[in-house]
Amino acid sequence: MTQSPCDNHNNMDINKIREDYPILQRHIEGRPLVYLDNAATSQTPRSVVEAIDQMYYHYKANVHRGVHTLSQEATDMVELTREKVRAFINAGSVEEVIFTRGTTEGINLVASSFGQMLENGDEIIVTVMEHHSNIVPWQLIGQRKRVTLRVVPIDDSGQVDLEAYEDLFSDNTRFVALAHVSNVLGTVNPVKQMIAIAHRHGVPVLIDGAQAAPHVKVDVLDLDCDFYAFSSHKMYGPAGVGILYGKRYWLEKMPPYQGGGEMIGQVSFERTTFADLPFKFEAGTPDFVDIAAFGAAIDYIQGLGIENIAAHEHELLRAAVEGLNTIDGIRFFGTAPGKSGVVSFLVGDINSYDMGLLLDKLGIAVRTGHHCAQPLMARYGVTGMVRASFAVYNTLDEVAAFVAATHRVAAMLQ
Ligand code: ALA
Repeated sequence: MTQSPCDNHNNMDINKIREDYPILQRHIEGRPLVYLDNAATSQTPRSVVEAIDQMYYHYKANVHRGVHTLSQEATDMVELTREKVRAFINAGSVEEVIFTRGTTEGINLVASSFGQMLENGDEIIVTVMEHHSNIVPWQLIGQRKRVTLRVVPIDDSGQVDLEAYEDLFSDNTRFVALAHVSNVLGTVNPVKQMIAIAHRHGVPVLIDGAQAAPHVKVDVLDLDCDFYAFSSHKMYGPAGVGILYGKRYWLEKMPPYQGGGEMIGQVSFERTTFADLPFKFEAGTPDFVDIAAFGAAIDYIQGLGIENIAAHEHELLRAAVEGLNTIDGIRFFGTAPGKSGVVSFLVGDINSYDMGLLLDKLGIAVRTGHHCAQPLMARYGVTGMVRASFAVYNTLDEVAAFVAATHRVAAMLQ
């Protein structure tokens, strides 16, 4: 594809960047692939794939267990990634950075462990825009104890109603769990303000950062969040690795999530003590290969600059909305100011799957359906939407191809 002038942001040469992604050279149904499903998972650059290769070819050994050289080297690589993550999110210490399998596991860890400290009658506040992974883990506590979810409403543009949020706090509120960025609407929630409100009520807050960490500067100390969960695979990194940041105060108070090797101090049949942080929450052999490679993904993002990535994605979003806006009967979901690079829409009564299937025939990969956010679909009175989501390697030409294809499919199906 050719490069438009706006495909250069702060010296980022997007065509050069694309060379690091062989998958982007693929053709689907004889047409160049236009990959716009980055909110589901981003593609992976050569530097990260090479880091995986290096681990398998030269450094594979179990970590934190062996005195032999390979084990020490693999351990050093995993711990180097932990330090890179700490710096990336500005956490106070590496002890507060826990490796998980992904955002979902991070949230389940907190729900399961913090949940053991909840009592019948306690309440948890979430928003209506949460992904199922920030709803269901809290409901699972409710199966064991009488814990209720209280839900923050949003306006039609997709912004939380802050007054309604504050009104939801009661003497029974014990926890708040919020998306930083909505995977459907792209809304960037005012989480710093929402955390401050929760803290005024003495309530800790978990932020689901899955859709924020690849696009927004995250500073956990500035946000003052109690927990922050995110995933490597949406950040140009390998699948199967996630991060849970937790304040030391809570992590020390909370019981372990899973039992096994690594998380123990001393084990006997009568009594077991637990390891210090962060290992108390890392039972079993971690995915040390992909954790090491996630370090390369963080280097990649830092090298490009998250502000540059965001500026480029905003430009793509602006062009997509402008181009789609002239389609008869189009309805956008999520129009909050400053939203991230996600555009969700429906055209007339065209089913989102039908549109997604025909777009695929034209080489365009988008996500369709409920986006793991059925309560949000219900809020808008729909069962699904079409969603295009952008990453640093997308170009304005690709957006133009997506817009033209959507016009064509809409005309065919209307
Ligand atoms: N949570 C991911 C998405 O929104 C999978 O597509």
